[in-house]
Amino acid sequence: MQLPPFRLERFFARHEFTAPHLLCCSDGESLSVGELLDLVPGAADGLSRVHLGYTESKGAPALRQAVADLYESTQPDDVLVHVGAEEAIFTFMAATLTPGDTVVVVDPRYQSLSDVAQSLGARVLPWRLDPARGFAPDLGELQALLAEPTVKALVVNFPHNPTGYMPAPEDFAAILAAAAARGVRVFSDEVYRCSEAEGVAPLPAACDLDPRAVSLGVLSKSYGLAGLRVGWAACRDRELLARMASVKDYLSICGSAPSEYLATCALAAGGKLLARMAGILEPNRRALTEFFTSRADLFDFTPPRGGLTAFPALRQGSTDAFCQALLEATGVLLLPGSLYGDAWAKHFRIGFGRVDFRQNCERLAGFCQNWNPAQGS
Ligand SMILES: Cc1ncc(COP(=O)(O)O)c(C=O)c1O
Repeated sequence: MQLPPFRLERFFARHEFTAPHLLCCSDGESLSVGELLDLVPGAADGLSRVHLGYTESKGAPALRQAVADLYESTQPDDVLVHVGAEEAIFTFMAATLTPGDTVVVVDPRYQSLSDVAQSLGARVLPWRLDPARGFAPDLGELQALLAEPTVKALVVNFPHNPTGYMPAPEDFAAILAAAAARGVRVFSDEVYRCSEAEGVAPLPAACDLDPRAVSLGVLSKSYGLAGLRVGWAACRDRELLARMASVKDYLSICGSAPSEYLATCALAAGGKLLARMAGILEPNRRALTEFFTSRADLFDFTPPRGGLTAFPALRQGSTDAFCQALLEATGVLLLPGSLYGDAWAKHFRIGFGRVDFRQNCERLAGFCQNWNPAQGS
């Protein structure tokens, strides 16, 4: 198996701890261990009693119960805890695909959603989000892609990174129904769940709509706890979860005991954590939309319906050059869309889940006052 470099992770490895002002992260403002413990009575004592041996490979029973409670139709045995969402993407692909299979994946996409499949010998067919339609994809095109007889899985990601696109609940149900009609398994990356913009209907979880579908969840984004590295797959097909667990035996084997304990505390205080994040996201989202609407001369912009990122496009000139010049002049880091493939090179990712978003957006606005698109063409 030959995995290509993970472009986005390599980009962050170069800049994340050196660029002074991060304006492209997809995670939410995180908390300290102490702040999390303060939310749950007795949690500090509980943490000090955590035994530092190997843990249950499926995940701590209390954590699996708390995750199962997030969905309408799952039991603890329908949950497999992983080290981040990233590990679950790998176990799903390795448990499901063999060379010659085809996977349909929304595009643009978080790279591992396509490249792990490709490295396992599967063919990837992109299902394109259309910037001209507010990033809505075409359901007719999906039907055509699913008609290919070797399609094994459909990979969707709503709320979507990086565009912030979300279908209406009835369209999401239609997407799942189209896959089910062809016997295609849905892998639904729902790591941005609970970050919907005000007035946007949340989506039902895929694992509740379809007994074979996998819902991918994590504490990194809307809960603001990326450093815990706790994610999960929820699916009522226990045979699939068992195959994913066999792959996990070759990766982390089991999760970190303190992390799983803290993750259980986080879900016990889930309402508070999500409200905290909504309080950060809502004003940031307004500032984001105000800025890009005021600079429609420079940018094409679709307000994100969910998630912690948006994907504007520079109307003229090179976006790579724009991002580089911005970094050099102001220390503000945006993520060039070229990291998502050449088709997205006019775009860039901007993240609004951090508390310093508005200051950094002002830095961007100041830079744009003097930006001459001809410089970067
Ligand atoms: C769509 C998507 N899926 C999965 C992941 C992986 O999440 P984690 O880093 O918490 O494992 C990310 C991270 O950015 C993501 O954006």
